[in-house]
Amino acid sequence: MIRGPPCCWRRGAIRPGSSRESLWFVAFDVTRVRAAYPALNDGYAHLDGAAGTQVPTAVIEAIAETYRSGIGNAGGAFPASGRADTIVAECRRAIADLTGAEPDGVILGPNMTTLTYRLADTLSRQWGPGDEMVVSRLDHDANVRPWVQAATRTGATVRWAEVDPSTAELPAAQYGELVSERTRLVAVTSASNIVGTRPDVPAIAAAAHAAGALCYVDGVHATPHVPVDVRALGADFYATSAYKWSGPHIGTVVADPALLETLHPDKLAPAPSGVPGRFERGTAAFADLAGVIAAVEHLAALDPAAVGSRRERVLASMATVERYEGQLFTRLLDGLAAMRHVTLYGKAARRTPTAFFTVTGYTPREVAAALADRKVNVWNGDNYAWELVGALGLRDSGGGVRAGLVHYNDQAEVDRLLAAVAELDPTTPDGVR
Ligand SMILES: Cc1ncc(COP(=O)(O)O)c(C=O)c1O
Repeated sequence: MIRGPPCCWRRGAIRPGSSRESLWFVAFDVTRVRAAYPALNDGYAHLDGAAGTQVPTAVIEAIAETYRSGIGNAGGAFPASGRADTIVAECRRAIADLTGAEPDGVILGPNMTTLTYRLADTLSRQWGPGDEMVVSRLDHDANVRPWVQAATRTGATVRWAEVDPSTAELPAAQYGELVSERTRLVAVTSASNIVGTRPDVPAIAAAAHAAGALCYVDGVHATPHVPVDVRALGADFYATSAYKWSGPHIGTVVADPALLETLHPDKLAPAPSGVPGRFERGTAAFADLAGVIAAVEHLAALDPAAVGSRRERVLASMATVERYEGQLFTRLLDGLAAMRHVTLYGKAARRTPTAFFTVTGYTPREVAAALADRKVNVWNGDNYAWELVGALGLRDSGGGVRAGLVHYNDQAEVDRLLAAVAELDPTTPDGVR
């Protein structure tokens, strides 16, 4: 739990160095937030949050305390087993508060990819020739390939929603053409993990529902950046991974329990037959689930002025986080856009604070290595956004460089990245190799 003075809005400030003026800016106490993360003391600027965040002390302690106090397998007659049962139930409640789902609709597992393959396997038992599914070129491959492979296996047809390469927008209007009474499922991301585009998921889900199809939403990249309400999104399934929002390596898919009741995944004979237990395989990572609970508590406390239930505090805190990250991102984008040797990809109207760029004269890997030398962590490559990197024409040249901001990043880190990239200008003495 983070403690400290309340966040506040201040009026009349103009962001230094920005080409655009802002009448309002949020004074988010990032110093207080950073103090919660021991790993941030290693001297590096951690701008690789889109690939996985650092974890706060409260999460580390929750995991350690679970082991320290003794843990048994679930469903037993003794207290240590009861603690495992309690953790699982509490974890479902925490994820429900994070996403706006029902605790009984929270499926827990190792990661989003594994769970999505499981759901694709289960859902596709009802598909056959003549059925169709719609996937998008904006998505991480984990919300593409499981559906494409399941469709291929069952003889169903795959239709593709295309990205406008000049903006990296995924126009929702195309779903009117793509979806028909043959459509069984529409899979779409609520934010691109490389360019940050946030498509109009409610409109896409409405198109799916009007045709009687289900909508599977990949919320892995969006969840750390925005308040999430799965009902408002229209998501029949919403997937997210705790390691992207300050938690351990755990994935989850949430759905209406009534929908889950209609689905029957493969399971072991003695394993739970109810919902959501029948979607979970083998023994859970109980200590990590305790870490997930602590991570949700941490998010709920990011804005100390937030009050009410944990769900209300999560929503208020994530709204504050979204505004803070937005300001920091403007500084990052403005700085990169001013560099002649940098090409930026994506300019969607609504996006997470995730920049994707290339640098003239350097491969993305060389840029990432040069930045690492200057103690700046960024990711390079396709980041599994395989279709999008192809649509942007970058697949054969090593993809791009991704700098992703999260709530614990600060202006000094952004400025360090900008200074490091500026040094790579091939027309300056430093940039000549
Ligand atoms: C948008 C998005 N979807 C899906 C995934 C896959 O998640 P997991 O690693 O939990 O399988 C990632 C991971 O980077 C991601 O960024």
